[in-house]
Parts: sequence; structure tokens; C-alpha cells
Amino acid sequence: MRTATATAHPNIALCKYWGKRDRGRNLPTNGSLSLTLAPFQTTTTVRWGAPVDAATLDGRAASTDEARKMFALLDRMHPGRPPVAIDTANSFPTAAGLASSASGFAALVLAADAAAGGGRSLEELARLARVGSGSATRSLHGGWVEWPRGTDPEGRDSHGVPLAPAEHWDVRMVVAVVRAGRKETGSTEGMNHTVATSPFFPAWVDAAEADVPEARDAVRTRDLERLGAIMERSAMRMHGSMLGADPWLCYFAPGSLLALHAVRGLRRDGVGAWATMDAGPNVKVLCESNDAARVAAELSEAAERVEVLAPGGPAHVTVA
Ligand code: PMV
Repeated sequence: MRTATATAHPNIALCKYWGKRDRGRNLPTNGSLSLTLAPFQTTTTVRWGAPVDAATLDGRAASTDEARKMFALLDRMHPGRPPVAIDTANSFPTAAGLASSASGFAALVLAADAAAGGGRSLEELARLARVGSGSATRSLHGGWVEWPRGTDPEGRDSHGVPLAPAEHWDVRMVVAVVRAGRKETGSTEGMNHTVATSPFFPAWVDAAEADVPEARDAVRTRDLERLGAIMERSAMRMHGSMLGADPWLCYFAPGSLLALHAVRGLRRDGVGAWATMDAGPNVKVLCESNDAARVAAELSEAAERVEVLAPGGPAHVTVA
């Protein structure tokens, strides 16, 4: 029996992934670009050769659906594998609405590979993490990461690629936690519904693909004003494509709008702050580290709680 432990940070997309061109492989309709964020992290221990397949998540037994996804990925990595025990835990509250599936699947492929004897390249692991959850392919790497759309039908050219390490740029992501009070539509369900029913979807794909090279350039030149504008419009266009679905899909809660208006108010006051939102009501705001306290104070008027995150490093094996 071999055991390995790995950790990974979540990431937030500045240029969003929304739409699958291949559902089984999680191949995207468009490229995306993200920032990996600390100190939040997932820690996952894999015991290769356990009595039976078993999984815990944050100290409780994983649900049937959660376990099915994790073991399906291990089957894909190692057909004919022995039974495996997985223990995974997030250091951050799930209520923060931060993509725990991204850090979760990144940590899982890394720990599973190490427990099974290792030997896979980071690129291969990034492709495998993508199959678990699309955004997980970006959490294998630290800092600024691009996930190109790719053209290969099997997705060999569609995985997270590092653009710049965490140390490249000392920015902050301020997360305004807004309570929605109802269960949300999962990202896969929301994406598939948008692709199938929104007449705005093709326009979203064109705009999203055009944004990625511009955002890449803004990251390289550390141009926050340019990157912030791209980030905000990417999120709004993604949510716009959902509003055009039938029936319409909307992740905004009243508190999300309060936070978005607070961000525009900050900009009017001369503070460089730009917002993004994912498949949930929380609002994430990018700013310079010097402005984080001011941004957090302003957002705490609109949100239940505020978390300040900084660029984080790559996923890594801690115990092997
Ligand atoms: O990786 P998934 O299936 O959880 O989808 C992520 C979708 C968004 O968070 C809305 C956008 C993104 O690029 O992370």
C-alpha cells in the first residue's frame, strides 16, 4: 500500500470558460485565463491499495455523486487499478463559493499519480484534471495560467499552461461573499443549457476567444486597468449569454448587484478595482495589493463576509 498527499489552490478565471465542445472530455468552446489564489487550498491523501474504494470530503463520507466523479478519474488514469482510499479537505469554507472542484481535482490527480508510483508529466496531469472539472486544469499551475481552447478532438492541446508565476505581480482578489439562499445550477448544467438554448452563445464564444490574447498581454505588461476591463467584460458577457438562455439562467443575487455597484463607485473615486462572477452570486474583485483594505471595507457594506486572496503557487506533492 502506497500513500501520497498533494495540495492545490483554487483559481478564479479572468477570461471565463463557459461552454463545452466535448462533454466527456471537458473540452471548452473557448480559451480562458486565470489567477491561482492562496491561502485557500485543498489537501488530498490517496492510499493506493485499500480494502475497498472509499472517499471522505471535509471529514464526512463523500456523496455518491462526489465519489463517482473521483473514482471515474482514477479509472481513467489507471484502468484495472486496485481499490483506493481518498481523503480530501478544503481549508476554506464552501460557503465562500470559490471553485473547490478546481483545487480538488488538481490535488487528486497529483496525489493519485504519486501514490501509484508517479511518472506522469505535468502536462498529462493537467489534461487529466481537466476531465474531472474543466477549471481544475488551471489549478495545477501557480500564478497566471492560460487554458487554450485547442483544436485536437482528443484534447491533447487543451490544458492549463503557466503564463507567469505568482511573484510576477502583487495583486489581490477580494471576495465578497453574498448569500443567495437557494441552490444554484451547477456549472456543467448551466453551460450545457446555455449552449443549447441561448442565441447569444456564438457571440459569447467569439468575444471570449478575442479576449484571451489581450488579457495575456495585459498580464505580461502588468497593466491592471487593461486587464481589469477585460476581466469585467468577460464575466458580464458570460452572464449575458446565460440571460439569453431559455428559460433564462441567472446567478446574480440582489447582493451581487450591490457589490458590483460598489466596485463601480470605487472606480469613480479613483480606486483601480474590477469585478468578476462565476456560477454563483459572489463577487470577486481584482485590485492592487495597496488598495485591498479599501476595497474590502467598501465591499463589506454589501456582503456578508469578505476574504482577501493573493496569487498562489503551483499544486505540489507534500508527502510521498
Ligand atoms: O470547471 P467548472 O466545470 O467548475 O466550470 C467553471 C466555470 C466558471 O467558473 C464559471 C468559469 C471559469 O472559467 O472558471
